[in-house]
Amino acid sequence: MNRFEIAVIPGDGIGNEVVPAAIRVLDAAAEIHGGLSFAWTHFPWNCEYYLKHGEMMPQDGIATLRNFDQIFLGAVGMPNLVPDHVSLWGLLIKIRREMNQSINVRPAKLLRGLQSPLRDPKQFDLIVVRENSEGEYSEIGGRIHSGSDDEMAIQNAVFTRKSTERAMRYAFELAKQRRGHVTSATKSNGISHSMPFWDEVFRQVQQDYPDIQTASTHIDALAAFFVMKPHIFDVIVASNLFGDILTDLGGAIMGSIGIAPAANLNIERKFPSMFEPVHGSAPDIAGRGIANPAGQIWTGKMMLDFLGYQELGNLLLDALEDTLEAGIKTGDIGGRANTGEVTNAVIENLKKRAK
Ligand code: NAD
Ligand code: IPM
Ligand code: MN
Repeated sequence: MNRFEIAVIPGDGIGNEVVPAAIRVLDAAAEIHGGLSFAWTHFPWNCEYYLKHGEMMPQDGIATLRNFDQIFLGAVGMPNLVPDHVSLWGLLIKIRREMNQSINVRPAKLLRGLQSPLRDPKQFDLIVVRENSEGEYSEIGGRIHSGSDDEMAIQNAVFTRKSTERAMRYAFELAKQRRGHVTSATKSNGISHSMPFWDEVFRQVQQDYPDIQTASTHIDALAAFFVMKPHIFDVIVASNLFGDILTDLGGAIMGSIGIAPAANLNIERKFPSMFEPVHGSAPDIAGRGIANPAGQIWTGKMMLDFLGYQELGNLLLDALEDTLEAGIKTGDIGGRANTGEVTNAVIENLKKRAK
């Protein structure tokens, strides 16, 4: 029996609804497997915690998390209580960086039973590899001349060769196992230092993968292609911000950002990786039991894959698609079921498939 210690951070808003749902599904999957179990340890770190303690997690929070095999997180942010840059840099981004989760893997594909908002889309199945540790999300910058006519804010983007190359190599390795194509999201026509550097590193890494086909596409055009012809993409490698924006769009073309999964990977496996969906805490629907648990459930499948249980992970995604195909869906994708009903149906379908 393999037992995995998982740190659970439901976080804010609908994180508290979709995380328990996905945990029920993962426990059911583990039971079906028979040789696998999860020990879930919950941490109440969120914006309410901040209001009580003046910090998003305790000083030894990172050290505590390092004792776990993986981290399962919902979403962070309640901008009416705590400014987003404070809550996110105090918890989500802090964990990504301190745990060296340098790669954010974010798939998007047309699932069975889902209606894409695109008119007559061809089957698409793509993965965005998002550089997860630097780029436009830098700590370098500042504000000067506040209150005067010359007031300004400066934010420097940081692109190291090491992290850029690491994200690109990850994308090429992934493409080798898929359809053999990598698209680089660039903007070297307008951004004159970091993006020409990005292109240069891409061309260099490409030399090591002669069998992989490549394209280098400006992010503005790439975003348009996501809408016009997403089926042309296999693996896309993008900087932190470009990858962030593309993957909400990836969710949208699947039918809802409530479906899109993500994995923040520590590819060296020295520290825990963190599994959290693309979407946020959705304050506009929180507390009503209507959030779509699909993104968090699919994120659970990505955790199973990373732990080496791909077959079980595939079974879980099949069960989710069976549920959608049967019309058991939340409101964001045109259904009338609530979070609990969708979750129950996924578990039932998992059991049916396992028979
Ligand atoms: P959001 O993703 O929370 O919501 C955007 C829209 O999508 C909303 O209308 C919401 O109702 C809907 N939505 C999102 N997830 C859904 C689901 N599972 N089911 C049904 N509908 C869903 O983005 P936002 O409104 O920009 O951000 C809200 C808060 O979440 C902010 O504090 C933001 O910083 C934070 N955030 C956190 C994360 C994270 O922790 N990973 C990611 C994105 C945003
Ligand atoms: C995401 C989120 C975060 C990001 C925010 C909340 C800081 O949008 O995980 O996609 O931009 O990385
Ligand atoms: Mn995002």
